[in-house]
Amino acid sequence: MTDFIEVPRGLAGVIVTETEVGDVRGEEGFYHYRQYSAIELIQKRDFEDVWHLMLKGELPTVAQREAFIAEVTPLRHLPKAVADLLPSLTVSVPMEGLRTALSFAAALRGMKPVLDIDEETRLADAVYASAIVPTILTSLHRLRQGLEPIAPRDDLAYAANYLYMLTGEEPKPEHARAIEAYLMSTIDHGFNASTFTARVIASTGADMGAALVGAIGALSGPLHGGAPSRALDALDAIGTPENIDSWVRGKIEGGERLMGFGHAVYKTDDPRSLMLRDVATSLGGHRVEFAKQVEKRVVEILAELKPGRNLYTNVEFFAGVVMEDCGVPRDMFTPTFAASRVIGWAANVLEQARDSKIIRPRAKYVGEVPPVPVPPIAE
Ligand code: ACO
Repeated sequence: MTDFIEVPRGLAGVIVTETEVGDVRGEEGFYHYRQYSAIELIQKRDFEDVWHLMLKGELPTVAQREAFIAEVTPLRHLPKAVADLLPSLTVSVPMEGLRTALSFAAALRGMKPVLDIDEETRLADAVYASAIVPTILTSLHRLRQGLEPIAPRDDLAYAANYLYMLTGEEPKPEHARAIEAYLMSTIDHGFNASTFTARVIASTGADMGAALVGAIGALSGPLHGGAPSRALDALDAIGTPENIDSWVRGKIEGGERLMGFGHAVYKTDDPRSLMLRDVATSLGGHRVEFAKQVEKRVVEILAELKPGRNLYTNVEFFAGVVMEDCGVPRDMFTPTFAASRVIGWAANVLEQARDSKIIRPRAKYVGEVPPVPVPPIAE
């Protein structure tokens, strides 16, 4: 066949579009949001500024920042119909509840296909969806615990408000800042599986809600966003420094993967892991020291058992330690990731919507050579 262009498995390394949203330079251990280093943004700006940057394309001036905060703060409150739906969505984990609730919220808002609306309306949909997701998630979590959801507090910034809605208590400043750093670090990350999913859906011209709901589904898989609680479970299972070697070797020799290690693009240190290791260290506690011991030894064992694969910790390894220290329960780790990544997805949907070309690759058929005669219905 000459009309096939064969690409590597998993599309690894294949350029499928152009973007101004951001990128990852895997060999250098560097990633950026638009033209800025993501890590430098975390050090110098706050969540709202980067939210503005991603959706509106530029870091805000002081006046733009005030206007943006005034725009998003009321949007954090759930419409009554969405709040009323949430109790029936507690049958499963919050990521599943989020899928349904966001889909409903989009329908309720009357989101239209991106192909049929102007840039300003698409942007308003993007701002709305990204403002509402944290409130949906924290409400779902509390309902699952048999607790009343907590309404957003308009005087609290994004990250502090997130912890407040989750726990019912105003967080310590160091916890709010630590979670803010984590959330800022996960807003976007190149053409990952969920971002690609969102862009494929947007390329059909579907509405913002449809693209974001598809992306949530992609993020829920353990190979993508489902690993931080598993990484922490692994730390618990290892338990003591003496167990590291036997536990890790047993897993690798049994053909298992260690959650929180390896990355599809980074073949050196994941800069998010380095940043979160520092954040975890600043929070203190014995577990972070144990986590660092585990990281060091596991990287050595992986280099021995999987030579040349360049396996290091990814964002999820220290994310779990940071989140649990700040009071985020384990079943909310992936949802917390989704709360920030929704902004990256929305930025990508806005960009994709400006391109009218549908993303439509091909698969190479490898089944029995057709046409095989259709057998008659068995007597
Ligand atoms: N533990 C043990 N071995 C690993 C790991 C790991 N965590 N990750 C990769 N390897 C091995 C693979 O078994 C493979 O070995 P082989 O060559 O003997 O077959 C080799 O390294 C290359 O693996 P690939 O599957 O080609 O790596 P890929 O880049 O496709 O996978 C992934 C990346 C999915 C993240 C993988 O490293 C993994 O499964 N990690 C564990 C899950 C995890 O932490 N996910 C969170 C990722 S971060 C994020 O999505 C936000």
